[in-house]
Amino acid sequence: MRTLKRQWLRLLTHIAALLPLLVLVWDFSQGQLTANPIQEIQLRTGRYALTLLILSLACTPLNIVFGIRQILQLRPLLGLYAFVYACLHLLNFFGLDYGFNFPLVWEDFAEKRFIVAGLAAFLSLLPLAVTSTAGWVRRLGKNWGRLHWLAYSAGALAIVHFLWQVKADFTRPLIYGIVLALLLIIRLPNVRRAIGEFRQRLSKG
Ligand code: HEM
Repeated sequence: MRTLKRQWLRLLTHIAALLPLLVLVWDFSQGQLTANPIQEIQLRTGRYALTLLILSLACTPLNIVFGIRQILQLRPLLGLYAFVYACLHLLNFFGLDYGFNFPLVWEDFAEKRFIVAGLAAFLSLLPLAVTSTAGWVRRLGKNWGRLHWLAYSAGALAIVHFLWQVKADFTRPLIYGIVLALLLIIRLPNVRRAIGEFRQRLSKG
C-alpha cells in the first residue's frame, strides 16, 4: 500500500512537471505563443525552471513544518525537471533566438548582466543534475546533502537573473525571493528545533 502511494506521488509529479511543456508545445503548434513566440518560450521555460527549483527546495521545509516525509522523495525529481526546463530555456536562447551565433551571444553576455547571472544559476544546477541519480546519492552519502546547498545558490542567482531582466514591475521576482528566504530560514538549526518542539507539544495536545 505504501509503495503504491509512493508510486502515485511520483507519477503525479511527473504529470504535473510535464504538463507545462505539453501546453507549450501545443500552443506553439497552434500558433498561440503571442506575436513573439521565441520570447514567450524563453519566459515560460524560465518561469517553469525557477518554480520547479523552488518546489524542490520546499520539500525539506514542508517535512519540517508538517511532517510529510513522503514528500522528500520528490526532491531530486523536481530538481531534475527544473534542470530540464533550464536546458530548454538555454537551448531556446542559443538556438532559436541567436541561431547558435556564438560571437553575437558573447556580445550580449558582455552587455547584459542578467545573462551572466542566468549562466551562473545554470552552472550551479549542473552538478546537482549530474548527481541526482540513486547511484550518485549512494556514492556521495553525506556529501550529497552538502552539495545540495548549491541548489539555494542556483535559486538565488536565478532570482537575481529574473530581477535584473524585468523592466518595471519587480513583484514576481520579489515573491520568489521572499519564498526562497523563508525556506532557508526554516532550515536554520534553531528554527528547525523550535518547530520540532512546537509540533511535539501540539501532538501531545
Ligand atoms: C545562460 C543561462 C541563461 C540565459 C542565457 C537566460 C536568458 C534569459 C532571457 C533572454 C530571458 C528573457 C528576457 C526577456 O525577454 O525580457 C530570461 C528570462 C528568465 N529566465 Fe533565464 N536565462 C538563463 C538561465 C536561467 C536559469 C538557470 C533560470 C532558472 C533556474 C532562469 C529563469 C528565468 C526566469 C524566471 C525568467 C523570467 C521569466 C518571466 O519574466 O516571466 N534563467 N532568461
